[in-house]
Amino acid sequence: MSIIEKAAGKLGKDEKSRVIKVSEGESKMPVTDVGVVLGESITAHGELGAQKAVSALSHVEINLAKLRQMGGITPNEEKTQIVEEFRIIKRPLITNAFKLGIGQANSGNLIMVTSALAGEGKSFTSINLAISIAMEMDHTVLLVDADVARPSLPKYLGVSNDAGLMDVLLDNTLDLADVIHRTNIEKLTLLTAGRKSQHSTELLASQGMSALLKEVAQRYKDRIIIFDSPPLLLTSESRVLASQMGQIVLVVEAETTTQKTVLEALRQIEACDNVNLIFNKARTYPGGDYYGYYYS
Ligand SMILES: Nc1ncnc2c1ncn2[C@@H]1O[C@H](COP(=O)(O)OP(=O)(O)OP(=O)(O)O)[C@@H](O)[C@H]1O
Ligand SMILES: [Mg+2]
Repeated sequence: MSIIEKAAGKLGKDEKSRVIKVSEGESKMPVTDVGVVLGESITAHGELGAQKAVSALSHVEINLAKLRQMGGITPNEEKTQIVEEFRIIKRPLITNAFKLGIGQANSGNLIMVTSALAGEGKSFTSINLAISIAMEMDHTVLLVDADVARPSLPKYLGVSNDAGLMDVLLDNTLDLADVIHRTNIEKLTLLTAGRKSQHSTELLASQGMSALLKEVAQRYKDRIIIFDSPPLLLTSESRVLASQMGQIVLVVEAETTTQKTVLEALRQIEACDNVNLIFNKARTYPGGDYYGYYYS
């Protein structure tokens, strides 16, 4: 029995838990630029509560060529293995997001991507999941870099880490709409980590963060919010965030992460009822033993 099967067994009491495989892949599809066609409006965060249309948000240009080089999904890509895998991964997350209810504590549309250790593929998964969901007809996505100590989304996406999540938490004159960027990927908006703070764990555990999460979940009801986060066993930020999420995606690096480590990570997030395991960088061929879901 593999680590993942055992981990799935451990999760067995929760019928919503599942394990999905992502292969170590490389996309070779040509890059296609997508124009921004966002007609909806979003509400600004903060006391003013002013309406600010998406078109009024500042714009950042995601480097699609860089994404493609990294093996990630780019818009309008044809059927590649990675595209298909994320199609499978996103479906139960989207279904659950709206089934669990939006806007209350631990809102279903708040999805954190985490892992036990560093380098297992959290950021890779967050980006691909966000882009894959943004390809849906009905859903928009906000990708949040909640790895505030060591943000890597700016590097992967080729954007700068200017004012972001930490700035909104530190400065209550800032609105969310001041720091969320629209992007050259239709229906994908981005919130970077922003300035570094020694008190990041406390800030993420603060009432300000709870209020921000509630607002983001309530105001953007058709929106899935994906949080890239730090490793669970090496930092305290992810544990704090986990307690406020509706769903968690736990990335497990194939052939590297031990069973003990996975189980310890699962213990850290047991407060969340909706945990999905992703077996990442797997070398098995799709259709092999690991492909598909493991339901309990
Ligand atoms: N399925 C995959 N196929 C190919 N490359 C992958 C895959 N998953 C991750 N990688 C690569 O592995 C490396 C580490 O991934 P990533 O940065 O996403 O990990 P992380 O868990 O976010 O790390 P950290 O803990 O440092 O934030 C990156 O170079 C990424 O491109
Ligand atoms: Mg990362």
